[in-house]
Amino acid sequence: MDGYTYLHLGETVDPDRYVICKYRVTSKLPIEKAADAIAAEQSTGTWTGISTLDPEIIGRLGARVTDISGDVITVGFPVEDFSVEVGSVPQILSVIAGNLFGLGALDGVRLEDVVFPREITSQFKGPKFGAEGIRRMLDRPEKPLVGTIVKPKIGLSPERTAQYVYEAGSGGLTNSKDDETLVDQAFCPIEDRTVMVSEVLDRLEEEGHRMIHAINVSARTDRIVELAERVQSWGARQIMVDVITCGFSAVQALAEDPSIKVPIHVHRTMHGAITKNPLHGVAMLPFTKLVRMCGGDALHIGTLGAGKMSADVHEDSNLGACLGDDVPYRGMMPVCSGGVYPGVVGAIVERSGFNVQIQAGGGVAGHPDGVRGGAMAMCQAVDAAYEGVPVQEYAETHRELRLALEKWGLK
Ligand code: 3PG
Repeated sequence: MDGYTYLHLGETVDPDRYVICKYRVTSKLPIEKAADAIAAEQSTGTWTGISTLDPEIIGRLGARVTDISGDVITVGFPVEDFSVEVGSVPQILSVIAGNLFGLGALDGVRLEDVVFPREITSQFKGPKFGAEGIRRMLDRPEKPLVGTIVKPKIGLSPERTAQYVYEAGSGGLTNSKDDETLVDQAFCPIEDRTVMVSEVLDRLEEEGHRMIHAINVSARTDRIVELAERVQSWGARQIMVDVITCGFSAVQALAEDPSIKVPIHVHRTMHGAITKNPLHGVAMLPFTKLVRMCGGDALHIGTLGAGKMSADVHEDSNLGACLGDDVPYRGMMPVCSGGVYPGVVGAIVERSGFNVQIQAGGGVAGHPDGVRGGAMAMCQAVDAAYEGVPVQEYAETHRELRLALEKWGLK
């Protein structure tokens, strides 16, 4: 490498002056060498010594490996390594999660966590609404929010989508949303869908039930704010964006644009390509922190081990990253989604507590009584968990829940 070492084991770096990352490293190299290579590559070094690097540069801007515990290394990056441009996730990611993933000397490296100093967190604004703002819109201060994802994820016309939302709302759901692959296809144009869904939400409100539906505006970067503005003008009460495919900056552009006056529901489709391998990639935790910094109001965090998606052992830590008060932002609503059905609601609430949005697509639309019955069963499961009544006992007096438990069982 460059003849300098980036190892400062046992040293403590000032958390106000450093971005502190934890990486899990797998390598045939001794871990000290692997750690040194990571810190060099991500700050001032490269694969060989270079005449242009001097002690002043490395002293000021070099990353510092301060701890090695088993296969986990702690690396501090001086805050000066980061762009002075206000809130730039692309540049942050290229430092903490960039070239290192491709280093041939490493079999695997995974960014497990990151803690940012105030100098960086203060560059971001966080959620405009957050969990509390969404709850206020729904007039539901305490109980878990209960939602659905319109299913099938593609194929329904705007009329049938609106009908689905109406039935879901009549069954008591507080939230519904487009799925990640639905934006503006010919079979379901976004304008017609938004207008018709808004009409049924108005109708539900007249009938005494408040509900919001997230319209998916995931689109190319240069059009996303404009599309969100249009969707809003057609009556949308919430928008959705796929953060991995659209980028963190898309969430930030939407959240920071003063014309966007509805909460942003953030889906994480494709995250599994990056988060699933326990020895390589990026854990969901840093992504959760970044989404909150960028202004996501609600974020899919998995099902805490209960649903259809494979669970990260550390999934629970994302709850803290959504709602914790260690950052200067509003809390972001954690959304548990993916293979959810009434029989898993209790297991989720046990791990999440009540400040959560639990939502089911198949677990609503697949109910023997249809969408309305499925919505009722999900609400009943949430009520049972909220009241601390065992779900099977609750099902004795709640038909829709009983049918759901008979069909899908209990986790
Ligand atoms: C999601 O957006 O989380 C999934 O589409 C959930 O669908 P499911 O509840 O049918 O698994």
